[in-house]
Amino acid sequence: MKTEPINEMKLVFPSSSSNEGFARAAVAAFAAQLDPTVDEISDIRTAVSEAVTNCIVHAYRDTIGKIEILMRLYEGGKLVIQVKDKGCGMEDVEKAMEPLFTTGGEERAGLGFAVMESFMNRLHVTSRPGKGTCVTMEKRLVGRSGYGR
Ligand SMILES: Nc1ncnc2c1ncn2[C@@H]1O[C@H](COP(=O)(O)OP(=O)(O)OP(=O)(O)O)[C@@H](O)[C@H]1O
Ligand SMILES: [Mg+2]
Repeated sequence: MKTEPINEMKLVFPSSSSNEGFARAAVAAFAAQLDPTVDEISDIRTAVSEAVTNCIVHAYRDTIGKIEILMRLYEGGKLVIQVKDKGCGMEDVEKAMEPLFTTGGEERAGLGFAVMESFMNRLHVTSRPGKGTCVTMEKRLVGRSGYGR
C-alpha cells in the first residue's frame, strides 16, 4: 500500500538566479515543522541549492524556464524533495553523476550531485534529453527532540 504524506507543498518559480536564495529559504521553512537540528537544515539547504543551481545553469542554460519543487513529509520524519525542470535534460545520467564530471567548463567543479548524495540519505535522478530532469532526494530527520528516531 502506498503511504500518504502527512504534509506536502509545491513551489513553482522561474529559473532566475535571484530565486535561488528564495528556494533555499522556502524549503528550510517547510522543514522547520520537524524541529530539525542546525546540521539537518543546513544539509537540506545545501542539497536543494545544488539541484536548483543545476536547473538554472544547465537545464535552462540560455533561457528562463519553470522550476518546480515538491516536498513531502512522512510519518517518522522522512522528507522527500523533488526538484524538476523541463529543460535540456541529460543523455547519460550515470555519467553526469560521476564526481568531477561537468559540462560547465572552468567555472564548475562537477561536484553538485556528489554534494546532494553526501548530504541526503538517498538521491535518484531521471532525465530525458530535450524533455527535462527530475531529482528526488530523501532525508530522514531525527530533529532536535529526537522525533524521527
Ligand atoms: N537539471 C539539469 N539539466 C541538465 N543537465 C544537468 C542538470 N543537472 C546536472 N546536469 C549535468 O550534470 C553535470 C554534473 O552536475 P553537477 O551538479 O554534479 O556538477 P556541475 O553543476 O557541473 O558543477 P558544480 O555543481 O560543482 O558547480 C552538469 O555539468 C550538467 O552537464
Ligand atoms: Mg551543479
